[in-house]
Amino acid sequence: MASMEELLGRALAEHLPLSAEDLAGLLQTPPSPELGDYGLPCYALSKYLHKAPDRIAEELRAEVELPEGVCEARAEGAYLNFFVDRPAVTEHVIRTILAGGADYGSDQQGAGKTIVIDYGSPNIAKHLGIHHLPSAVIGQSLYRIYEKLGYRCVGINFLGDWGTSFGRLIAGVERYGIEHPERLSVADMQELYVRYSTEADGEPELQQAARDAFRRLEEGEQQAVRIWSACREVSLEEFDRVYGRLGVSFDEVRPESFYNERLRETVERLRRDGIVQESQGALIIPLYEDGLPPCMLQKSDGASLYAARDLPAAEHRWEQYHFEKALYVVGNEQSLHFRQLAAALKQMGHEWADRIKHVNFGLIKFRDPETGRARVGSTRRGEMLLLDEVLDEAVARARRKIEDNAERLEAEADLGELAAQVGVGAVVFRQLSTRRTRDVVFEWDRMLDFEGDTGPYVQYAHARLCSILRKAGQPMAADVDHSLLALPEEWVLVRHLERFPRAVLGAAQECEPSAIASYLLELCADFSTYYSAGMREPDRRVLCEDAATRAARLALVEAARHVIRSGLALLGMAAPDRM
Ligand code: ARG
Repeated sequence: MASMEELLGRALAEHLPLSAEDLAGLLQTPPSPELGDYGLPCYALSKYLHKAPDRIAEELRAEVELPEGVCEARAEGAYLNFFVDRPAVTEHVIRTILAGGADYGSDQQGAGKTIVIDYGSPNIAKHLGIHHLPSAVIGQSLYRIYEKLGYRCVGINFLGDWGTSFGRLIAGVERYGIEHPERLSVADMQELYVRYSTEADGEPELQQAARDAFRRLEEGEQQAVRIWSACREVSLEEFDRVYGRLGVSFDEVRPESFYNERLRETVERLRRDGIVQESQGALIIPLYEDGLPPCMLQKSDGASLYAARDLPAAEHRWEQYHFEKALYVVGNEQSLHFRQLAAALKQMGHEWADRIKHVNFGLIKFRDPETGRARVGSTRRGEMLLLDEVLDEAVARARRKIEDNAERLEAEADLGELAAQVGVGAVVFRQLSTRRTRDVVFEWDRMLDFEGDTGPYVQYAHARLCSILRKAGQPMAADVDHSLLALPEEWVLVRHLERFPRAVLGAAQECEPSAIASYLLELCADFSTYYSAGMREPDRRVLCEDAATRAARLALVEAARHVIRSGLALLGMAAPDRM
């Protein structure tokens, strides 16, 4: 059955050049209940109708046929406000949520369609740093959001395991006589790389040896391949472990090296079609017509470049999946690369080129507690912060925080597990609650605050709902009298719960998990207001005297609990029952 927002959207769409969905999305809650229950801001329609907002409101009021459950429409300045049968809407919303459970907010818009999401995609032989966080968690969250909307999602880790830098690694292993490269740790590899690079500085011979080593690798020479695969295996193990802590996983690891094979064929074809050009020995795809610098495929020494692997990778994804969209969750700094990629694919005659989308994001910065300035990397020397260590720190801090609030902690909670859920959740939420193109500033205390705009705050709100339900000690009544949910705070909650499906759609449309995070923060704030009112007045308590009212309120609490839990799951966060 349709929600009230959908019904109003449809009724309005009869008279307006907008879709029912868009109109439903425009509906707001008037600032005070005497004004109405749903308000359409008509100023948002002026640009389509070329009329003053108050005139639009007045005309619509006279024309629109009110759907069932709507008692009255009033034009109020720039708004058209609707009064509805609140108990009917309340009942509908709560019943829909309780019947749907974890499926509430699901949709079939994606049925039969595939979305390919490239996220994570780190380079091997280096630790995961804090700068690897955004791609991993934004990608994973989008995966869950699209999946909820019925799409088939394919998560791809386009592992960076190819490029001239691996020539140095191989040359280093050979030069320093390392017999068992498979025993190197990722830290050893990083050290080896730095040692070789430092030594090679101003030593043309060593630089040449590194280039030769990469060429040997490209040609498939056994020793080069053996060293390189050993480094790759070790790196992958570490990546799996750290991504696992974040709940991030992939359907496919399709490394760049995989496309080295296809590369020759691609370059040949592009040559035949006259798409690539030689320029001072290098191979490029000119993109003047798109106003872009040329896409570089090969250096003059024959070594292939990053873009040269992304082109066949995109073609391969298309052949495999005929995707509705292919998303690349990669930082702002690669925006030129993805513009070139799309333009080059278009020149190659691929109609689907406009289905690829760069889902970009900003930097992570840390606030220096002494200077108050935010900067990339928090150590004094600006070194890279390891993702694994940031998570350790978050978990340790969460643990202290939980222990400090010991009176809140319920006896049965497993402190170790809880600290991991809250600590990691705080980091994930900090990232995902920021609009993705913005930089994110990490401040330990703010991130872990149980009262702020944080992950722990949302998790705590969820645990509090669970605790009320436990305290009630009664099974959920099958039939409750929803008209007993007559408090203004309850109506606000109902309206908010009704909006969840729209928040999911909005997040998907904009590739913006922060839409879910904001939704959750507002919902928890509304709940908190309700809860505090109950602290002051016993009649307003969920667990009030009157049994029928209590049963109705418990149904509302249960519905809110479902929605918070689903929202957290879309962000990839745990929803502990006790905190
Ligand atoms: N490995 C690259 C890096 O660390 C990111 C790869 C992103 N995905 C892609 N298809 N280009 O910068």
